[in-house]
Amino acid sequence: MAIKIDDQHRIFTLHTQNSTYQMKADAQNVLLHTYYGEKTDDSDKALLFYQADRGFSGNPYEIGKRDRTYSMDSLLQEYSCFGTGDYRITSLRVQNNDGSQAAELRYTGYRVQKGKYAIPGLPAVYANEGEAKTLVIRLADPYSCMEVELYYGILDEMDVITRAVKITNQGTKDIILKKAASMNLDWEYGDFEWLSFYGRHSMEMNFQREGIHHGIQAIGSVRGTSSHQYNPFIILCEKGADEIMGSCYGFSFVYSGEFLIEAERDQIDRTRLICGIHPDNFSWTLHGGDTLWLPEVIMTHSGSGLGKVSRNIHKVIREHICRGEWKDKQRPVLINNWEATYFNFTGEKLIAIAKEAKKLGIELFVMDDGWFGKREDDSSGLGDWFPNEKKLGCTLKELAECIVAEGIQFGIWLEPEGISEDSDLYRRHPDWVVGIPGRKPCLSRGQWILDFSRKDVQDYIIERISELLGGIPVTYVKWDCNRAICDKFSRVLDSGRQGEFSHRYVLGLYRVLEELTEKFPGILFEGCGGGGGRFDAGLLYYIPQIWGSDTTDAIERLSIQYGASFGYPVSVMGTHVSTVPNHQTGRVTPLSTRGCMAMAGTFGYELDISKLTQEEKAEIREQISTFKKHYTLIQHGDYYRISSPLEGTCTVWEIADPSGVETLVSAVYHHVQANPVPVRVKVQGLKDEANYQLFLNENFKEKYPGKRLPYGFASGEVISGASLRQFGFVVPEAVNGFQAWQIYIKECSHSCE
Ligand code: DGJ
Repeated sequence: MAIKIDDQHRIFTLHTQNSTYQMKADAQNVLLHTYYGEKTDDSDKALLFYQADRGFSGNPYEIGKRDRTYSMDSLLQEYSCFGTGDYRITSLRVQNNDGSQAAELRYTGYRVQKGKYAIPGLPAVYANEGEAKTLVIRLADPYSCMEVELYYGILDEMDVITRAVKITNQGTKDIILKKAASMNLDWEYGDFEWLSFYGRHSMEMNFQREGIHHGIQAIGSVRGTSSHQYNPFIILCEKGADEIMGSCYGFSFVYSGEFLIEAERDQIDRTRLICGIHPDNFSWTLHGGDTLWLPEVIMTHSGSGLGKVSRNIHKVIREHICRGEWKDKQRPVLINNWEATYFNFTGEKLIAIAKEAKKLGIELFVMDDGWFGKREDDSSGLGDWFPNEKKLGCTLKELAECIVAEGIQFGIWLEPEGISEDSDLYRRHPDWVVGIPGRKPCLSRGQWILDFSRKDVQDYIIERISELLGGIPVTYVKWDCNRAICDKFSRVLDSGRQGEFSHRYVLGLYRVLEELTEKFPGILFEGCGGGGGRFDAGLLYYIPQIWGSDTTDAIERLSIQYGASFGYPVSVMGTHVSTVPNHQTGRVTPLSTRGCMAMAGTFGYELDISKLTQEEKAEIREQISTFKKHYTLIQHGDYYRISSPLEGTCTVWEIADPSGVETLVSAVYHHVQANPVPVRVKVQGLKDEANYQLFLNENFKEKYPGKRLPYGFASGEVISGASLRQFGFVVPEAVNGFQAWQIYIKECSHSCE
């Protein structure tokens, strides 16, 4: 049973298949966090706590006279408060009506609900009644009429526990929330490291691994979006944990706005981790009776390394975050005209690309930026979502119909949150721009942002985009957002509530997305924040895939996609094959390598196909058929990182069918050496007792007809699962710069004797 409650001792134990989480309301009614980790029993872990008198760590009044070891500053707590004796980082900072900043939370009760709770207006993991349970624990501040409900969703088969928080002002006097995190997690002991993913535009998701040291360390965003700079996903693991060994925790914040994930190792080597909305741009007034829900955090634990944490997170995102028709439906192989033409196109040119693409087996044509308003470059036109018929040479409907008539689907680019100073929308509604009256708001990519916290702006966008999409045969929308937000201010909020702007903006965005995706269930939406500027589990609740980065260079994409793989499944990663020399780096890589990289994602093309040779076109046809052959395996299989792009010579990853029948190993040489050391792959996810055949992907086959490859294996050889796991095989050598190989391994009935 997923939730075990010992009413007598007020112990709450949550079990998943392989993990256990425990809390206890103690004699002071403080809700202690007693355990999270490898599966164990329901026994009271608080009995094993060690408490000592820590000088200068004070004691709550009611107990301080008799017990100086009981301190909020050293107790392991489930949800910590600022101002009342806990000097560490805390999850809740409240300003009371008298100006004091203090809160104390005491346990008042609990309830168990069937199924998984939902959060009004916010994305959250969803599940059938049989797949999940909810525990709600109630806390209250005895002095202020504030009630805090801690929500726990338990998806036991997934090894996932979710957390969310609901805060209600049950009194009559205002309470101002200055910081309200979604999760607090305390560990009594342990030497931890955390993995975080930092970056910048065109170079997102860089892997970083650091020890949790004394003091506070943090990642976050104050940019209005989750940002290119830090991703709202981290892994905390015991020192030395690797892909297959060690205790590891994954935390994914289901939110697309400003966030803070902070860790502190305290005076007695205890570790606290807090995750929630970034407090710098946040304050929220709760009048009497008001409630605020805080966004969800997905947690998972694995006792067997980082790889399992990633696979748990992949599964929950794929199956319990992504929604709608496109969640499981096969996504089309697309071609996008951005890197082929940028703003410089005509309707005729687009039709020519679509026609040629169709011949190669591409299924969807996407018209990117530049088709609307006055938009010859990025300095104008945003907000005017009316086609530029002069440029297109026809109406948008005619263009879309003409493309569809070629037997290829039609998709369109939008940036609904953006607005240019030089646009009719701005001339009509200057007050719709995010900015502080009397100051000129900062430009970024020459543009501003619409105030999505306003209902009238949301309504306008819903109406305009609905009208646009409703009038054309369109099956795909790329929803871009090309700047971060500053000058935060909304003209419709009182001065005392401006701290609510950033969160209200995100709520507004979610409302618009909810309504549009509901209205157009057949349209596949792809998110984009100038690449990976808004790549988070929150957005994936509305939009099942996100353009990974404005870098299309296959070798740069190795590290971007490697970083992303820790927290996100392949099925959400937007990836394209582009031209060489690459537009961002000037690097030349083989078409097969670009194809191999793009196949670790949603797969598409972004280049001028009229410039390709016949051989290249033939290779593209081959790539598409390979991708389609392995589609289900790639999109729904279990992902294993075998070697990293940050070391050695060759990045290897593997996607295995969960039942161990087949696996696809991809290898890209990111560093080509003379006389190289062999790259050995110990294959995972197979059945020891079964026999398998190894095949070189079609793209490479004819170069080595029937030959034993340098160091490698011959296509079709039969090897046992146990040998492949324990001894592995060697990736063929690189025969040219940045060579890629794909090796398909399938169970066979042959004996390996
Ligand atoms: C940024 C995106 O990431 C690109 O792919 C492209 O759509 C441009 N915006 C268009 O302005």
